Amino acid sequence: MLSLSQALKARLSTPLKIGRFEVNSRVLQSPLSGVTDLVFRRLVRRHAPESMMYTEMVNATGLHYVKDLPIIMEVDPNERPISIQLFDCRPDFLAEAAQMAVAEGADTVDINMGCPVNKITKNGGGSSLLRDPETAEAIVRSVTQAVNVPVTVKTRIGWTDQEITILDFAKRMEDAGAQMITVHGRTRSQGYNGNAKWEWIARVKEILSIPVIANGDIFSVEAAVNCLEQTGADGVMCSRGTMGYPFLVGEVDHFLKTGTLKPTPTSVERLQCAREHLQMLWEYKGDRGVRQARKHMTWYSKGFAGAAELRGQLSTIENVQQGLDLIDRAIDRLMQSDERDPRLVEDEAVALAIA
Ligand SMILES: Cc1cc2nc3c(=O)[nH]c(=O)nc-3n(C[C@H](O)[C@H](O)[C@H](O)COP(=O)(O)O)c2cc1C
Repeated sequence: MLSLSQALKARLSTPLKIGRFEVNSRVLQSPLSGVTDLVFRRLVRRHAPESMMYTEMVNATGLHYVKDLPIIMEVDPNERPISIQLFDCRPDFLAEAAQMAVAEGADTVDINMGCPVNKITKNGGGSSLLRDPETAEAIVRSVTQAVNVPVTVKTRIGWTDQEITILDFAKRMEDAGAQMITVHGRTRSQGYNGNAKWEWIARVKEILSIPVIANGDIFSVEAAVNCLEQTGADGVMCSRGTMGYPFLVGEVDHFLKTGTLKPTPTSVERLQCAREHLQMLWEYKGDRGVRQARKHMTWYSKGFAGAAELRGQLSTIENVQQGLDLIDRAIDRLMQSDERDPRLVEDEAVALAIA
């Protein structure tokens, strides 16, 4: 049975302190480009109202030249705590972008120093900053001077297995003024392959005074607890595990706060969530939202009879109604099938017994 050690319980029973800002949850929803828009965050927050969430990463150079707020930077006035994540390599553009982020309502500003994508690294942003710590320091100094909210950094453990530089890098970020660091336990060359090396996160935690958040391979409550135990980190950040499953952050938060597991959502409940997600994306972004919803819908369609066929159909939907109809039919089939979730079957048995 999964349980929290007394030491972990005691360590995590206080709010997470990011500079002067306090967060009443030790589990965070990561920034995910193309995923963690306002709609997705609303779904996650329903189950994890106190957790910190991040926008998708925003290009500071783009903001400098265009000035209009991109939709990915939009924050709902009621959604707190929220961090706006920026990427770039120019300290002045990042400082300017950070001021816009604060004006939009960001509680903290996060700088992306971990993105492995060529398009970003070849321009000096994302994980390439691991190879240019002087610029990374200048960025943190410039942004902390520009805004009165905490500035945080999200990064990886190094460029390659032969170049794991996180210990020196993380210390430099702290000394430059970063108020929290999130470490994804992979190198840039790993991309998203192989295991996250949590042992490096443990070593970072040993040498820093600011909060250290562990990231990488948190796909379940159990993984979150193991990671916290093994790294001694101040919190965990869930990422791919939330794609098609906006329940995960809430499940981890609930366990860390109560020591008990929330019931896992049934296939029907997951599809009901998918339906709502699609509807909300359509209302927020119109046809573009429907196109973006395709990938989300395929992530939700897993783990029940007929899921593969539904995935194929949802991946090509042309309009919102087509998607809603497909999901409704799948829900009806699941409700009628023998493969219904055992919880539903049990509920029915109880109802019959009472009748
Ligand atoms: C589709 C996708 C988009 C991502 N976008 C961002 C991003 O905008 N900013 C960022 O810091 N990390 C981004 N990441 C990295 C994740 O936040 C996280 O660090 C990584 O997936 C490792 O955690 P995991 O193994 O639990 O997925 C992205 C990852 C994926 C798969």
